[in-house]
Amino acid sequence: MSENLQINKTSKKDAYETLLPQVQSLIAGEVNLIANLANACSAIQMTFDHLWTGFYLVDKKQLVLGPFQGPIACTRIPMGKGVCGTAWKEQNTVIVKNVNEFEGHIACSSDSVSEIVVPLFDLENNIIGVLDIDSTQEAMFDETDQKYLEKLCLLITKNLDC
Ligand code: SME
Repeated sequence: MSENLQINKTSKKDAYETLLPQVQSLIAGEVNLIANLANACSAIQMTFDHLWTGFYLVDKKQLVLGPFQGPIACTRIPMGKGVCGTAWKEQNTVIVKNVNEFEGHIACSSDSVSEIVVPLFDLENNIIGVLDIDSTQEAMFDETDQKYLEKLCLLITKNLDC
């Protein structure tokens, strides 16, 4: 494992192209879910410096707060509620350009304006959680984020004993 994360801010695509192989090596050889999620969200947060980057994990009928970086957040989200609960229910990535226009959005921070939530699937294709990233800027997230964050989530679960 490298001690220092390399950060490439030339473009969003380049930032992800630099980030993903480093996440891969950060988690290589470690099968513990929490440890890998913790390092992955730190690496994303250090690269992009968004308002909030973290994971919620499926626990029975709710999502429960997992490793994250950023301001304190709500601990439990029911299925179908908020952006996270919607992504869980629909088993799809959800991109919200302006959270004020998303009915049922759960405002953990009033500074959050746009958001992307990406599902995390285990090797049997069961959803085990979601990656949630919030920004203070409107329309921060697009298909480039979706493409690379879905790849990043796959990297994590491919490596796991879960
Ligand atoms: N905004 C999310 C809740 C989680 S926080 O943003 C960290 C939602 O609507 O699901």
